[in-house]
Formats: sequence, structure tokens, C-alpha cells
Amino acid sequence: MSQQVYPVPDKFLKNARTTAEDYAAKYQQSVTDNTQFWREQAQSIDWIKPFTKVRDVSFDKDNFHVEWFGDGQLNVSANCLDRHVANHPDKPAIIWEGDHPYRHKIISFRELHQEVCRFANVLKKQGVKKGDRVTLYMPMIPEAAIAMLACTRIGAVHCVVFGGFSPDSLASRIEDSQSSVVITANEGLRGGKTIPLKTNVDAALQMPGTEGVTSVITVYHTEHPTNMQQGRDIWYHEAIAEVNEHCPPEPMDAEAPLFILYTSGSTGKPKGVLHTTGGYLVYAATTFREVFDIRDNDVYWCTADVGWITGHSYLLYGPLANGTTTLMFEGVPQYPTWARIGQIIDKHDVTILYTAPTAIRSMMREGDHYVRESDRHSLRLLGSVGEPINPEAWSWYYNVVGEGRCPIVDTWWQTETGGILISPIPGATPLKPGSATKPFYGVQPAIVDGEGNILEGECEGNLVLIDSWPGQMRTVYGDHQRFIDTYFSTFNGMYFTGDGAKRDKDGYYWITGRVDDVLNVSGHRLGTAEVESALVAHQSVAESAVVGMPHEIKGQGICAYVTLQADVEPTEELRKELRDWVRSEIGPIATPDAIHWAPALPKTRSGKIMRRILRKIAANELDTLGDTSTLADPSVVEHLIVTVYPER
Ligand code: WT7
Repeated sequence: MSQQVYPVPDKFLKNARTTAEDYAAKYQQSVTDNTQFWREQAQSIDWIKPFTKVRDVSFDKDNFHVEWFGDGQLNVSANCLDRHVANHPDKPAIIWEGDHPYRHKIISFRELHQEVCRFANVLKKQGVKKGDRVTLYMPMIPEAAIAMLACTRIGAVHCVVFGGFSPDSLASRIEDSQSSVVITANEGLRGGKTIPLKTNVDAALQMPGTEGVTSVITVYHTEHPTNMQQGRDIWYHEAIAEVNEHCPPEPMDAEAPLFILYTSGSTGKPKGVLHTTGGYLVYAATTFREVFDIRDNDVYWCTADVGWITGHSYLLYGPLANGTTTLMFEGVPQYPTWARIGQIIDKHDVTILYTAPTAIRSMMREGDHYVRESDRHSLRLLGSVGEPINPEAWSWYYNVVGEGRCPIVDTWWQTETGGILISPIPGATPLKPGSATKPFYGVQPAIVDGEGNILEGECEGNLVLIDSWPGQMRTVYGDHQRFIDTYFSTFNGMYFTGDGAKRDKDGYYWITGRVDDVLNVSGHRLGTAEVESALVAHQSVAESAVVGMPHEIKGQGICAYVTLQADVEPTEELRKELRDWVRSEIGPIATPDAIHWAPALPKTRSGKIMRRILRKIAANELDTLGDTSTLADPSVVEHLIVTVYPER
């Protein structure tokens, strides 16, 4: 833990909306009278029918219940569009920067409103009704935002699947969500390369379980022909030309489902995290405004893909609910060169940049000169999300990108939490590199030991939340018991995050990473079980165990130990084949960084794989392997070490 403290930069302090004293008092009040706090925050949202009850919450696993603003009604798209059209119709809502530096588009609130209404009418025409699920498999283009907002306009539940996932992964999500419509593009573009989205959709819809899909709406994004299946496939531009731009927003109950987003857990298939309408929107809007210190003329840029929760809460809903201009970038930081991020900041006068440590580390590695080519005078605030940020990357972000004048908000949260739970409030919170600092208003984190005893003061243990917040997930789609078991059964009466954390003498939180079998690769979540089941699905593989290992750029890399079938020879070709196999089964983000041939895996007498030992071997921490005496066959460890480090 770095103990260097960075006070709020002078220039920022001068205009600060919240001071250190304000934060302390407001936080205290927000937990003492949580109901009153959220009643006030919810006033920033337009309610079609005002709520009378604020919260109705029990974290007891046998009597679980979470409801926020229960009897209110609202519409998300109306909050993101209509009310801003009334106030500032010509203000840019979305600045879209294409993969190619010569392509960009600016869409005003008025234009976005029109397009969303039209597309909502297209969905209606395709038979989509309130509560129906719609899967999106899209590149980072405005139509992705339009499709999401159009779903919310008519009360359909969107399920965005990251465009980097394989046809298999897409099919299982379409099946689990029982979607009737898929929205995609003929191709995506990233760093000058094309991604065959529509071809992947076609492949997914060949797979069993996806028969419920009756239409595929395709955006014509690149000049490349694609197969269109008669009676099923329609072009976005043709469909939108046939409908009008009048579509009244559907009044939705606060607790009506808003979207499903799949995320990896420590066991089994990815789970469909379900968020609801009122609580989610109040939470995304409030955290966005306070954590990013939002002002009317901000140009805010979040680099996350719409396929992740960050792309939902802080690329789309948080900014638009506040009437903020949001920048959407289709490409990658290194295309055409590593100077791109700085060029985009200058081109659009970006004031706030929110990105991931993995991107910061890869830019840092390329050298300061790329960033220094740009002027960046518009920047006033920086954000980080997705994984712990190492102090070196933090300092580089702060000193080189932000030139020492921009606070960094290191925001800790999860797909499940809907929005930021632990973060500095810029202007109020002195920063410590690597610490997400303090809880957001109304949020009550705690650190517990293995038995669930709450630890006080300076301590280290499991991170839990002891009370609800409006943005929390409400269930695992189709499996409420899994929801209770996963999050509320480890420690009774508490939401278990799956993360470990330390708290220092100043009450600052330091996230130490996952304590379960979930990997965080470049800020993307992956279950070790998913990668293992992809590996064992290959005919040459008898058994496999996957663990994380330290990786300079990605934070964590994927290390797979593979035991082959008896008659199979371990070769370099097979290693490559297995890497490609996992890529095509799950998607490129799951590609193993290392594959080790394991004559056998270290197991306890009851047959449980001891991952702790595998993690130590992967990290080359052979001196601290710990106790191996409970293994069924301790000699397995020596064999493995010899295989992994032959020249040792
Ligand atoms: C996991 C959640 C939240 C949106 C992106 C990831 C890790 C997230 C931080 C941070 C340390 C972080 C945690 C968490 N994580 N932000 N600022 N510092 N760790 O969402 O895919 O649901 O992953 O990401 O381990 O549990 P996600």
C-alpha cells in the first residue's frame, strides 16, 4: 500500500462542489437516514407516477426482499431524452468517434430522441412487447445506444452481449434470456480489422435453444455484403424508414426489469444479472453526477464497451439521465497509433476521461511521447475502473496524462452493483494511489473475517455490503435461488462481493482482488470454470485446471494446466490448437496466456483440486507453496514444477 497522499489539486479545489467536510457530513446523514437521502436523490428523476415508499429491504437469506421506490412509475428513455429535448435540444447527446480517425458523428438530444422513437416503433412492428427480451450483439456505434434506449422506451428488456464473444457464448445467452429479436451489424470495426458480427449471429442461430428468435435487425455498418435470411433478417435502415417518429414512453413500474447482463461467476455458466428500472436509474444518475463532478458543459468520455456494465451505467444511462454529452469510441487506443487517445481528447475537447488500468498500462509502456503529442488542456478529471490500479500506472495517469491537475477517481463496483460503490469524490477526497478510498453516499461496506465477523479499524478480509442501495441487482434471471446462494448465503444478512479488501487507519479501502475462482483479465471477468469446461470439451484433453497469474499489462493472465488423454502427445501444435479452441469456444478475451502440460493435477484426498498451489506455481512463487501434506499424492507438485520450469 502506497502511503503517499495527493491532496485535491488547487485548481480543482477552487471550484469544488463538495469539500472534505461536506462529504463527511453528507455521508453520515446518508447512512443515518438512508430513506430520506434516497428520497431526495430520486427527485432528479422524472416520475410518471411518484413513489410513496422509498425502500423495503431485507438481506436475510430466508426472508430476502429488495424493493426501491416500489409504487412509482417512470420511463428510462424519457429521463434520458425527452426532458433534455425540452431544455437543450441542440446539445450533443452522443459524440461518436469512428474507428477510422476521419469518421465522426455528432448526435443532438433532439436527433437521438427522434431516432430512438423510430426504432422503438420498429421493435413494436416486430412484435416486441413490454417485458420481452431483446439481445444486442453490436459494435460501438450510435445504433447500439439507440437500440438500448428504444427497448427502454417500450419496456422491453435488453440483453447486450459483448461483440467479442463467440457464436457459442452468444447462443447460450440468447437461449437463457429467451430473446425473440437480435440486433446486430453486418460487421464491426476495430483497429482497422473487421469483426463478422452478422456471420456470428447466423452461426449462433443454428444452435439448439435459439429457435425463439423470429427476427434479426442488422445495421449496415461496413461496405460488405452479408447473408440475409428471408423472413427473418431485416436491415435497420430500411425498417426505420417505414415508421414514424412518434412513440410515447411506456410507464414502467420502478421494479420492472430494465436489462439483463451476463457475467461470470466462480461456478457454472455465466449468470444473467437482472437490474430493474427505478432504483438502477436513480443510482446510475446520482453516482455519475457526484463521482464525476458533472457540469453542464462537460464532454465526458468513457472508453468501456456497451457490452459491459460500465458501458450501460457510465457510457449511456448515467450521462444521458444527467443531460451530459457522452463520447462513444468505436476503435482501440493503438489505432492508427498510440497517440489516438490524446488526439480524440483534443478533437472533441474532452473534459473527463474514464478508462481501465489495462489501457493505462499499455499506453504507458509505449512511452510518454504519444500522449505528449496532444495538448489535453480541456481535461479536468480522470477515472479508473475494472481492476486494482498499480501505483506506477496511477502516477503515470496522474502526472503524464493529467499533468498533475486532474484528480483520479478510482471507482470500485461490479456488474451486480449497477453503479459505483467505493470511490473518491473529487474535490473532497485526498487520493492515495491504488486505493478506491471511501464509500459513496448511502453505501455501507464492511470487512469480515472467514466466519462473517465484522472487523473494525485497520484490517483485511472479505468485502461485504451490510445494507442495500438502489442500484443493486435484483435476481439472477430465471434462477432466484442461485442469486441468494451466490450473494447472501456466505455471510448471513450481508451481500458478499467476492472481493478481498484492506482498510487503513484513515478508513480508506484497498481492493486486493477476487477471493473466489473468478479471474480479472484486462478488467474483464472470467470464471476459471468456464475456461476449464471449454478445454475439456476438446477431444485431446482429459482434465484441466485454470488459474490466474500476474500479467504486466492485463493485470491477470490465464494459466491453464492440462492433462491430456492417455494416447495424446503434447506438442507445440496442440498447444496452439487448444489456445485457438478456447478463443472460438468463448471469445478472444478467454485465450490462455500459458498452457502447461500436467501429468496429473494436485488434488486432496477427496478429489478437490488445490488451486492455491497451482496459482503459486504459475506465479513462480515456489518458495511459498505452503502445506502440501493434505494432497492425495504430494509428488504431483514436484512433477508439475519440473514440467513448468524445466531449466530450474
Ligand atoms: C470486479 C467486478 C465495475 C465495472 C467493471 C468490472 C474488480 C472493479 C475495481 C477497482 C479494484 C476493481 C473487482 C470486482 N474491480 N473495479 N476500481 N479496483 N478492483 O465489472 O466485470 O462485474 O467485475 O472487478 O474484483 O469484483 P465486473
